[in-house]
Amino acid sequence: MSRVLVTGGGGFLGSRLVERLGADGHDVVAARRRDYDLTHEADAERLFADARPELVFHLAAEVGGIGANRANPGRYWYANLVMGANVLEQSRLHGVGKLVIAGTVCAYPKHTPVPFREESLWDGYPEETNAPYGVAKKAVLVGAQAYREQYGLDAVFLLPANLYGPGDNFDLETSHVIPALVRKMLEGGDEVVLWGDGSPTREFLYVDDCVEALCLAAERYDGSDPVNLGSGHEISIRDLANLVAEVIGFAGEIRWDESMPNGQPRRSLDASKARELFGWEARTPLRDGLERTVAWYRSTLLERAPA
Ligand SMILES: NC(=O)c1ccc[n+]([C@@H]2O[C@H](COP(=O)([O-])OP(=O)(O)OC[C@H]3O[C@@H](n4cnc5c(N)ncnc54)[C@H](OP(=O)(O)O)[C@@H]3O)[C@@H](O)[C@H]2O)c1
Repeated sequence: MSRVLVTGGGGFLGSRLVERLGADGHDVVAARRRDYDLTHEADAERLFADARPELVFHLAAEVGGIGANRANPGRYWYANLVMGANVLEQSRLHGVGKLVIAGTVCAYPKHTPVPFREESLWDGYPEETNAPYGVAKKAVLVGAQAYREQYGLDAVFLLPANLYGPGDNFDLETSHVIPALVRKMLEGGDEVVLWGDGSPTREFLYVDDCVEALCLAAERYDGSDPVNLGSGHEISIRDLANLVAEVIGFAGEIRWDESMPNGQPRRSLDASKARELFGWEARTPLRDGLERTVAWYRSTLLERAPA
């Protein structure tokens, strides 16, 4: 397929995907919010009329770390739900051949057995700090399944682990844990203060591995079941902080602010379905990915920052 629309095409994951699709010779429209606000139905209609896509990747979302989720529960629920609904409806109306939707690991119940398997998705309520975001994305999954059943829309839904890599969001107000650690350790002086007690575990997926998964799913997967995208490597936030410190050469003190929330206790995904269904496996070891992320931050944001 050659005419491809990427919603959220200027975002962290979206811009890497747009680069890859362009290099593969596709005619790509990277939709930006300033041109088309996808929470508005009329903008979504106009976008699909302008782009006339055969293949759509729906990556637009309002996302952030624990702090941003706690500050915006209503907005995150509304924006992610409505954007998903508008994109599904326009994909149906415009006869899109394939729609690939980015879900999130935040959709899983708070106490899911580890590693998370797709069958557990509906076994409970998500961790409270990110539930509105996670539940909105889960509702979009139901929409995708219902549109497949009733209208034959080939929509697939993927559940990526926490992403990281070059181009990530390093704004401390809204960033996820890895860019926050990198920035704090590179700019923070002798001490960095981190939220929680360091005990929760997470799994991290390098952004280009996720791009590869999106492309393979678009090409090879045509099914209603959601599919996990993970690296298979679970690590505690404390060990992660120590690893980032080692990669950066940060010799200061790491202090834990236990008055702040930990978030979900454990997160790790079973990604065997992605291997079986479309032959995808993550390739980038965490340390390599962190080295590339730190190098990118140093060369792109730190060294070019005005004095
Ligand atoms: N980052 C992660 O760890 C992670 C993990 C699992 C799943 N995901 C999912 O992967 C996708 C991409 O995430 P990301 O980290 O790349 O996020 P991101 O950098 O914040 O990019 C999301 C993009 O969505 C666009 N957007 C937001 N509100 C919009 C609106 N009202 N109308 C149109 N566009 C809007 C923004 O476009 P502009 O730049 O034009 O403003 C933004 O660039 C999301 O669906 C997210 O839920 C991310």
